[in-house]
Amino acid sequence: MIVRRFPDSGALVTFACETFVETVNNAQRVHRRAGIGLAGGSTPRELYTRIARDLRTPIDWQHVDIFFGDERAVPGGDPESNVHMARDAWLDHVPIPLAQIHAMDGGAHDLDRAAAEYERVLRERLPEGSGGFPSLDLLWLGMGADGHTASLFPGTRALSETSAAVVPNEVPELETRRLTITFPVIAAAERVQVIVTGRAKAARLREVLAFARMELREIPADAPPAAKIRPRSGKLEWLVDAEAASLLETP
Ligand code: 6PG
Repeated sequence: MIVRRFPDSGALVTFACETFVETVNNAQRVHRRAGIGLAGGSTPRELYTRIARDLRTPIDWQHVDIFFGDERAVPGGDPESNVHMARDAWLDHVPIPLAQIHAMDGGAHDLDRAAAEYERVLRERLPEGSGGFPSLDLLWLGMGADGHTASLFPGTRALSETSAAVVPNEVPELETRRLTITFPVIAAAERVQVIVTGRAKAARLREVLAFARMELREIPADAPPAAKIRPRSGKLEWLVDAEAASLLETP
């Protein structure tokens, strides 16, 4: 696990953009598409906007498949939807074939069926990784102030899912359901970058990183879910700005 501290979100976004370019170029070299997993929420908007508008390196969009780590239980056109944010900031502004944007169907009446369908897409489009789960080349995740990641919220059933790759998840604190990838998919990812910015998350980040340095089996069951982000590849980077890192010990 590497914690990369950046003076501000702009510098953090530059690093994440460079990772994206590197990931796509590596896939292109072996005539594959790079499977990129997107985080939702508000933090990634700056990153997605920069990819759409300011990448220094041209991207061959034929070699990119876009996936989502989670989705709210709303239609794709709803401003609350993660795919809506990603399209508004990035995907509608680049020549990526629509067939290579794989959104979760948050608007489905039957979320169990939508979860199973998304799992089918992941397994069809991605190589098999650790534990027999689909392996994203690069997975971007966020972290909520309560330490959730994707839609793996504290105390929810999806935290203990070990066989399905995608599940609906009841989130009582939000009085809603979400669709989310599960920890086995996070573990199967080749590279994971968790993007955390802002002072409001500084205390939670300090707590999560303390747990994240423990052996997975030693982490208490009630620890914040983000502490359990653990790609078996070992390629886990926490990308944090100075505000989010303000309570961490000086390196
Ligand atoms: C979502 C995200 C979620 C997000 C965190 C942080 O659907 O909201 O996938 O996991 O990464 O909630 O959200 P912010 O970036 O808005 O703080």
